[in-house]
Amino acid sequence: MVKKSTNETMDNIISLAKRRGFIYPGSDVYGGLSGTWDYGPLGVALKRNIMQLWWKMFVDDREDMYGVDAAIIMNQKVWQASGHVDTFVDPLCEDTVNHRRFRTDHILKDAGVDAEGMTMEQMDAAIEEQGIKSPDGNPLSKSRTFNMMFTTHVGASSDATSVSYLRPETAQGIFTNYKNVVDNFYPDLPFGLAQQGKAFRNEIAPRDFIFRSREFEQMEIEYFVNPDEWEVSFDALLKDIHAYLEALGLPQDRIHELEVPEQDRAHYSKRTIDIEYDFPIGKEELLGLAYRTDFDLMNIQNNSAKSMEYTIKGTNTKFVPHVIEPSFGVERAVMAVMSAAYTEDEVNGEKRIVMKFPEHLAPVKYAVSPLLKNKPELVAKAREVYQILKKEHGAVMWDDNGNIGKRYRRQDEIGTPHCVVIDFETIEGDGTVTIRDRDTTEQRRVKITEL
Ligand code: GAP
Repeated sequence: MVKKSTNETMDNIISLAKRRGFIYPGSDVYGGLSGTWDYGPLGVALKRNIMQLWWKMFVDDREDMYGVDAAIIMNQKVWQASGHVDTFVDPLCEDTVNHRRFRTDHILKDAGVDAEGMTMEQMDAAIEEQGIKSPDGNPLSKSRTFNMMFTTHVGASSDATSVSYLRPETAQGIFTNYKNVVDNFYPDLPFGLAQQGKAFRNEIAPRDFIFRSREFEQMEIEYFVNPDEWEVSFDALLKDIHAYLEALGLPQDRIHELEVPEQDRAHYSKRTIDIEYDFPIGKEELLGLAYRTDFDLMNIQNNSAKSMEYTIKGTNTKFVPHVIEPSFGVERAVMAVMSAAYTEDEVNGEKRIVMKFPEHLAPVKYAVSPLLKNKPELVAKAREVYQILKKEHGAVMWDDNGNIGKRYRRQDEIGTPHCVVIDFETIEGDGTVTIRDRDTTEQRRVKITEL
């Protein structure tokens, strides 16, 4: 009998992630590097499954989407024109005694003050009025802005002309290729360009496991529309986002839409919906959907002196398309999927931890074991079954470590939906194997050919 309970806390998930080879702290052997994380063998598989599902649903299965994969390091003009050099900043204040630095809005949030929509001066005033101190109990300095882009230099010289940045979003690599794709493919409006890849932000306060990292991945779409028809595409994309979240196995009641009020939106955005999720750390942003008007393409047109106009086929009607942007963070999707899957239950009086991933996301689909590893005939048959399944499913694990109970516990913790055990009945009897279901723990005998 399976008795369900959940004890899904961040600590439990972080501990499982490390113990079972999903996610390790970055540069761990050298004491780590704050805000960076490394994916282990199972984490890579889980993350890839999440990203491939997105690519399938948003690109491969559709006629109106085109994939791109732009360079991470781009001409510095990209970031000047987009406004990132001037405005991609966070307010930063400093403990005046020990000089530790904090995000001012986080200091306010921790003190129970909602800083959303406040100017930096208003935040400083709130800190002063309420006598808010640093986490170490010391007075705080006035805030200043801090640009979150990582700077680098391209080539052998390191002067102002060679400055570039690690991209803080994948979006700009899409906008800069809009014209190339229009010239090559001339898609009908509306159409989208999609990209997945790394983004880098020198977050002042990386925190909550992979939720706020300095290096992370995004999956973004810039969807180009006729300005008169943006609402139709906005609604359709919102529906597609929900379909994807459902395919990730995220419970409906933990997903919330936040209609971002005007004063909290970027100045160019006419409508933004943040999709929030009930993470173990609380309700936080999972992804965003923004109507960005023609802000980005007009910036490129004005700064590059190249026309970004689109001509409707067979007419003289020309305009710069408007853009709707669904922007997903991969790490947050991984964290949501892991927290939705994390379950502690009791099987016949024995406690276990089980990751109930949807089968299509599970890093390992089948584990194959000989009942006893010191019986060569069982091992040989199990290897045969393993090879058959591996050829068919790829994500199959050989597991002969410890007794069968231990193997089941281990496979439950990594979320393997099916454990196949080869025993004496397999070789002496009717050629059937035991297959155990992760969620119900029920075992059935099936023919190898029917696996
Ligand atoms: N192009 C728009 C854009 O980048 P954003 O809200 O800054 O918008 C989009 O980022 C998504 O990227 C977020 O909803 C989140 O999922 C993810 N993201 C942003 N910063 C992150 C960070 N420091 N660590 C992990 N994910 C992050």
